[in-house]
Amino acid sequence: MDEARRLHYLAAMGIEVWQPRVAGESAAATVPAPEPKSALEPAPLLADQDAEPAPQPALTAQPTTGATGAQAALQAIARASLARKTQAAVPAATSHSAPAAAAAAATAATDEQRQITGMDWDTLAACVAECRRCPLCETRTKTVFGTGDRHAELLFVGEGPGQDEDQQGEPFVGRAGQLLNKMLAAIGLAREQVYIANIVKCRPPRNRNPAPEEASACRPYLERQIALLEPKLIVSLGAVSANNLLGNSEAVGRMRGKHHHYQPGDGAEPIPLLVTYHPSYYLRSPAEKAKGWQDLQRIITLLRERR
Ligand code: URA
Ligand code: SF4
Repeated sequence: MDEARRLHYLAAMGIEVWQPRVAGESAAATVPAPEPKSALEPAPLLADQDAEPAPQPALTAQPTTGATGAQAALQAIARASLARKTQAAVPAATSHSAPAAAAAAATAATDEQRQITGMDWDTLAACVAECRRCPLCETRTKTVFGTGDRHAELLFVGEGPGQDEDQQGEPFVGRAGQLLNKMLAAIGLAREQVYIANIVKCRPPRNRNPAPEEASACRPYLERQIALLEPKLIVSLGAVSANNLLGNSEAVGRMRGKHHHYQPGDGAEPIPLLVTYHPSYYLRSPAEKAKGWQDLQRIITLLRERR
């Protein structure tokens, strides 16, 4: 990559670069911020002038489900959900009724999960919009399903909605989202060209980390999104995302720069996964943005390898 291009990308991410003093120039310069519209310009994918446009995955068309199909699926979910709640609410009056109720609740939960596994995009989105599978439904304003190109090669997974996202129903629209947009622009992508989702679809109160039970209640939705999307690469933004998708409890600093794979639950091919810091970390520690830049370059390399 030539120097001018590199500097432009760094500027897009808000990284200040000091250039060697050149005769005629008064001082080391800070790269000027690009026009905001640059993020939306059709930039060459992968920052390569000669690059072909990204081939779309062959399997693009989703089976269309009529309103009746979608409604039936939603009704089935609602029934399973109700059964689960009713069974869970049965008081454990005798020693044998509690295990029986737990078993019945587990069966209902499995039925519900099986339903989700068969959903198309629109049915899944409608299901999330009404979801009450975990206590986060009590405090949310809007559910935040996910946004972007449903045929994207690149999936970014954050942690959960914050205040702005909870209000607007869209992921990464607050300050962290604005930085994410700049990071995407740095590799020639607009947010409409990738898919962006979160581990949990409802805002945890006071932006706390989602509890393990909340993340696992919400997991079937993300699993289904991944199965429908078939991304070439998943980028985990922050530890909560990476820990949930990889099933570990390591710190981002230990996971960065290593090869990881997300293993779909249905036995499908593992999908390469890259771990990077959450954009809010770069907002708190701007000096660390160089690491974000390194990770963006890895994203480019990994995508190229998967073509
Ligand atoms: N942080 C996240 O992890 N996700 C969002 O959608 C917004 C902020
Ligand atoms: Fe449902 Fe997920 Fe929201 Fe919990 S966080 S209520 S599982 S959509």
